[in-house]
Amino acid sequence: MQNRNVIITGANSGIGKASALKFATEGYNIIMACRDMVFSRNVQKEIIDISKNKNVYLMQVDMSSFNSIRTFCSEYKSKFEKVDILIHNAAYFNHGEKYQLSPDHIELTFATNVFGPFLMTTLLLDHLKKSDEPKIFHAGSNIIKHFFDLKTKIIFDNLQGEFKDSRSHSVYKMYCQSKMALLMLTFKMAEMFKDDGIKVNALQINGAKMSKRMIKKVKPWWRPITWVQNLFIPPTSYMANNYFEICTSDTFQHVTGKLFNDKLEIMQVAPNEYPGFFKQVKRVLGSSFYPTYANKKDVMDQLWELSIELTNDHSIHSTLKS
Ligand SMILES: NC(=O)c1ccc[n+]([C@@H]2O[C@H](COP(=O)([O-])OP(=O)(O)OC[C@H]3O[C@@H](n4cnc5c(N)ncnc54)[C@H](OP(=O)(O)O)[C@@H]3O)[C@@H](O)[C@H]2O)c1
Repeated sequence: MQNRNVIITGANSGIGKASALKFATEGYNIIMACRDMVFSRNVQKEIIDISKNKNVYLMQVDMSSFNSIRTFCSEYKSKFEKVDILIHNAAYFNHGEKYQLSPDHIELTFATNVFGPFLMTTLLLDHLKKSDEPKIFHAGSNIIKHFFDLKTKIIFDNLQGEFKDSRSHSVYKMYCQSKMALLMLTFKMAEMFKDDGIKVNALQINGAKMSKRMIKKVKPWWRPITWVQNLFIPPTSYMANNYFEICTSDTFQHVTGKLFNDKLEIMQVAPNEYPGFFKQVKRVLGSSFYPTYANKKDVMDQLWELSIELTNDHSIHSTLKS
């Protein structure tokens, strides 16, 4: 697959690393978009050695910082002619951490998992449009199942530290909301980018073996749980294959605006009525349906507008028209 460029954020560990290896082995040009250059350099070497593909590049980016993303995109554009596949894999989730603000004064989970990816996508749109089959991919999570509880919603009024000292904070809840927001942006982007032929899809990840690097980030008392979890969940290569299939297979060539489960089935929105306890349990355990909240058009539009406002990237309107 010569001359097809794949950007993978967070490609130095876990599923991102396994995906970089998979795409490299299949002959794609890989751009590992990573934060820690010292650690990532060794991973880059390892991927080149195993895949025998020299076209594995490493570029620095901190997905929580708009400045860093802007620098990354302008350097990328000076080096590469187009983007064929943009994989938003990096995510922030550190158990037990307090409310933190990004360099742009945005809650860190949302900055890294939602607004950073949004900005990178919008800045690379013109380069995506140069591909004959442009794809954007979002790494989702089954944590959004919490939204089957109809009381759960995205809390918009504390994303810039408004109540950081007066409200209790849960990284877990923030992560859950950020993954729902990313899914909603998947749907919205698919609609907005349709005329430009850019396909946008997401994968609901139920679990993949956590890397040593990730386990080190969780609180010591949580680590035994992750070790036990790791015994029962699939290896990262399984999810990497799913990333690859969704982004490259002929079967999904024309698919856009969809959420896949880990069996590569397209998930459906749950029927609207409140389902009752047993159906609710089935829904939470199964992977056929996603919560109706994800299709709320008013929230989708609010997220879209807020993403433009916070990233201060109004160029998207002109890029989409041209
Ligand atoms: N593993 C699972 O069971 C599971 C379940 C559901 C969803 N997911 C999703 O799958 C994706 C991959 O997860 P994983 O399990 O492979 O996690 P991981 O091993 O911890 O990898 C996360 C990657 O994101 C990078 N990252 C975090 N913050 C960043 C930032 N500000 N800028 C640049 N890179 C940043 C990390 O880089 P550093 O090395 O610099 O920290 C790391 O490379 C994530 O989107 C996650 O939410 C995973």
